[in-house]
Amino acid sequence: MNIRGLVSGGAFLWLAATAGAQPGSGETISNLNVAHHGEANAHHRYGVYAVTADNEGFAQVAKLFRAAAVAEATHEFTHMGAILNLGGKVESSAPETVAPGTTLANLKQVVAGEKYERDTMYPGFLKLAEAERAHAAVRSFGFAAAVEKQHARLFAEALAQAGKIPAVDYFVCPICGTTTTGAPAPGKCPTCQNPTTKYVNIR
Ligand SMILES: [Fe+2]
Ligand SMILES: [Fe+2]
Repeated sequence: MNIRGLVSGGAFLWLAATAGAQPGSGETISNLNVAHHGEANAHHRYGVYAVTADNEGFAQVAKLFRAAAVAEATHEFTHMGAILNLGGKVESSAPETVAPGTTLANLKQVVAGEKYERDTMYPGFLKLAEAERAHAAVRSFGFAAAVEKQHARLFAEALAQAGKIPAVDYFVCPICGTTTTGAPAPGKCPTCQNPTTKYVNIR
């Protein structure tokens, strides 16, 4: 199954279970559309950066980019589900063109982007969604805020080590995008509470 099939299954099972009118203003729906567009582009961009990393001999960094790409795709789909859940319209927008640099330059750019989402974008979106009691958006922004924190740390470590990070498999929750180094402990995903047996091993 491809990445989109994998994550869209989880996102839409949740949507079907929670569909119904929820409070939420046009601003939160607009924020969801901004985030949806950003995550779709991140998913695509990280896939391109993974190819560059493989070509430059950074196989482990390529694996990290692939794991993060899967995680960003989960956010793409949960944001889309939240827009529909809140009665909004998913705005279509053209994908951004990706012009990869070297792997180390790509890592530097990605660390800055993940930190912006972690420290500024998602906290702001989350605060407004909470004030509006837009529960579907709170859930989706909460997933992304938690996971961008993990990505910021993982990419910053890779940059600090000039791409020479230890060989390990990454595991990604197909519901919320939680990204772990090595196999998760049996139990519930700390972010979405679904079983960790659902996690996908990214090689
Ligand atoms: Fe991320
Ligand atoms: Fe999860």
